[in-house]
Amino acid sequence: MIVFYFTSTGNSLAVAKRIGGDLISIPQVIDGSDTHYKDEAIGVIFPVYSGAPPRMVRQFLDKAIFEADYLFAIGTYGNMPGACMYNLQKGAEKRGYRFDYLNSLLMVDNFLPVFEMDAQIAKLPEKKTEEMTARIVADIQNREHKGAKASLPVRAVTAMFAGMKTDKNAQGYIVNDQCTKCGICAKVCPAKNIDVTDRVNFSGHCEGCLACVHLCPQNAIHLKNEKSDKRWLHSEVSLHEIIAANNRYRD
Ligand SMILES: Cc1cc2nc3c(=O)[nH]c(=O)nc-3n(C[C@H](O)[C@H](O)[C@H](O)COP(=O)(O)O)c2cc1C
Ligand code: SF4
Ligand code: SF4
Repeated sequence: MIVFYFTSTGNSLAVAKRIGGDLISIPQVIDGSDTHYKDEAIGVIFPVYSGAPPRMVRQFLDKAIFEADYLFAIGTYGNMPGACMYNLQKGAEKRGYRFDYLNSLLMVDNFLPVFEMDAQIAKLPEKKTEEMTARIVADIQNREHKGAKASLPVRAVTAMFAGMKTDKNAQGYIVNDQCTKCGICAKVCPAKNIDVTDRVNFSGHCEGCLACVHLCPQNAIHLKNEKSDKRWLHSEVSLHEIIAANNRYRD
């Protein structure tokens, strides 16, 4: 089984690790020319951004050719997935294939402009994240089939959200004087959007994933509109694993 994933704060990677198989980080293959993937089972796991997969995941799905007996996708989200998985199936159908199993999984919402991380962590039991993760893992082990439904109002609201750009260019991020120029923000960035010289420089192709903000060891990167200065990394995922997944500065 091959499981493709995209992650910034580890939620999606934690789920991928629970499911198992050969885990492949989408940022590591996005520039590759080999886009044909064949296995008995293939899965795609990603965070929901404004009711849709992240831009890089959409680019990956546009060019990937999957050959599998069982194809699944999981969208991790923090509050409202909208019609994300429904639209994902529609997109797949246009490309000539269908997902056999689609599901979304409620986890900590890492969107700092709206959510406070301590409150999100406290809500985990209420969100039933652990139970739902176990159920999804079992479903995939048993090769269950499940479609994705979305009512007309949900589809309409999701279409409105789709107009909101989450892939801001990071120019609004504030780097304070706690920064030690360690370069970790550049290594956790899936978009190769950060270069650390005598300062932290952001380019213009940000995915808006907030990995740099959440994972700076000095907590030196801030948003003007963040709800608090608390940050999030999933407890089953290490900083080292996020770097291995997202670092695109290879020698
Ligand atoms: C830019 C951005 C947009 C987001 N949009 C949504 C959303 O529309 N609905 C939602 O429920 N969660 C949203 N989230 C929360 C994430 O989908 C959620 O925390 C996810 O599990 C993070 O996964 P990761 O840790 O693998 O990156 C958003 C997060 C970010 C950073
Ligand atoms: S990770 Fe934080 S401390 Fe390190 S270079 Fe980036 S902003 Fe500075
Ligand atoms: S600059 Fe920060 S928010 Fe933008 S893609 Fe890179 S890590 Fe994500």
